[in-house]
Amino acid sequence: MRKIALVTQKGGSGKSTLASCLAVAAQEAGERVFIIDMDPLKTLVNWSKIRGEKDIPVEVVPGAKLTPVLNVLEKQGVTLVILDTPGTASKETEAAMRAADLVLIPARPNAFDLWASETTRKTARELRRDYCFVLNQCPPANQSERVKQGAKALEAMGGLLTPLISARVDFQEAARHGWGVSELNPNGEAADEIHRLWSSIKRRMPREKAARRAA
Ligand SMILES: Nc1ncnc2c1ncn2[C@@H]1O[C@H](COP(=O)(O)OP(=O)(O)O)[C@@H](O)[C@H]1O
Ligand SMILES: [Mg+2]
Repeated sequence: MRKIALVTQKGGSGKSTLASCLAVAAQEAGERVFIIDMDPLKTLVNWSKIRGEKDIPVEVVPGAKLTPVLNVLEKQGVTLVILDTPGTASKETEAAMRAADLVLIPARPNAFDLWASETTRKTARELRRDYCFVLNQCPPANQSERVKQGAKALEAMGGLLTPLISARVDFQEAARHGWGVSELNPNGEAADEIHRLWSSIKRRMPREKAARRAA
């Protein structure tokens, strides 16, 4: 069972949006996905209520209970846990980072988000976690100097995942229905970006142990 935490000490970067869309894309790719919502805003709990289906369970788990809960989920055959976190440093955020095989740090191509990424990266390093960045909400043309500079800054900090994720209405529309972008518009560009992002994440994560795969 692999665990990804979406973390950055900045609201609005796209943690919950990417968490929900990646959860759906991973499920479509055959993973048994479980979301843990550690943000007091409970964004993904609400997303799940609107979704209505129980195919991707979403639970609130306090930081102190995270390890035992993860042990139970692994025994139940969950293959991927996605942890969504608040936009502030907290016990919850730290617990999520400690538990994660990979810390995914979303940032928009602007100075404030990039500074916040640096803070989160520092924490991930202190906790000896593997981390990488996702540049989110880029202007769809992807050509602006601001986006290029943002991508360069994140690459320099170590590990920018491909592709860049564009600002697209599909992300907001999907959220409104409790869906991922690949459910809203399976052949759309947002869906394509999320599928490619999921492939990049899969390549980046440590491989499952053979024993687990066989189980
Ligand atoms: N790629 C995107 N394209 C368009 N809107 C986006 C995208 N990513 C996030 N958003 C919007 O930005 C806002 C903040 O995103 P959210 O996922 O809630 O951020 P966080 O969880 O980091 O606070 C939301 O309104 C969401 O719909
Ligand atoms: Mg959020």
